[in-house]
Amino acid sequence: MPLLKVDDVTAGYGDMEILRNVRMEVAEAEVVALIGPNGAGKSTLMKTVFGLLHPKSGTITYKDRPIHGHEPHDIVGLGLCYVPQVDNVFTTLTVEENLDMGGYLLPDSQLPERREWVYEFFPRLRERRRQRAGKMSGGERQMVAMGSALMLEPQLLLLDEPSAGLSPKLVDEIFDNIQNINRAGVAVLMVEQNAQKSLEMAHRGYVLANGENRFDGTGRELLADPDVARLYLGG
Ligand SMILES: Nc1ncnc2c1ncn2[C@@H]1O[C@H](COP(=O)(O)OP(=O)(O)O)[C@@H](O)[C@H]1O
Ligand SMILES: [Mg+2]
Repeated sequence: MPLLKVDDVTAGYGDMEILRNVRMEVAEAEVVALIGPNGAGKSTLMKTVFGLLHPKSGTITYKDRPIHGHEPHDIVGLGLCYVPQVDNVFTTLTVEENLDMGGYLLPDSQLPERREWVYEFFPRLRERRRQRAGKMSGGERQMVAMGSALMLEPQLLLLDEPSAGLSPKLVDEIFDNIQNINRAGVAVLMVEQNAQKSLEMAHRGYVLANGENRFDGTGRELLADPDVARLYLGG
């Protein structure tokens, strides 16, 4: 039984259909990469899974419960958290305050313990816990965003372009962070422009183009597919 199952989903903005009959699955503790050209609908699919958009048709189940049509607040409570592509931290709050916002469903007494768990993944955040997120570098902000999303100990983390705009060294660091989070048992569904690198890390991947499924397979299969390479990996 997959942890997340997206089945035959059509969704968009108002009357504009962006996703057409999309399917996708994420198993427990799996890393799944979602790649495809700009405008393919990757972020739209993430938003639809997280309940920010409601599909026109099709079903989305998480832990075998239907979640399509549910609101993000309810979906978070089931253990599915989302880090959007932009505006993913509270810039005027400190690192620690950002983490506590991420843990908003927890009793205060549990916050310190959860923060410690998050700091194990991001030691740099522990050092900077009193710093305002707005004063931090792009890479550090991304860590704050991921850390906040981890505060509720989700079983599935949605990451929309976690490495966008970062230097190669920081991209490596963020990918290492994601790998460590996954090793702790958290399934990760990540959208990445850095397709090659994300498929190297992912157990499986999906290529979305023009709002439709185009290719899917294991990371290795997709990397070895000449059509995928030519069209989507710049190979
Ligand atoms: N809030 C919005 N309102 C209307 N159209 C949107 C909105 N966000 C994205 N779109 C459109 O949906 C399509 C897919 O966008 P998006 O899901 O962001 O693609 P990707 O993340 O793959 O680059 C694009 O044509 C984009 O212009
Ligand atoms: Mg996007």
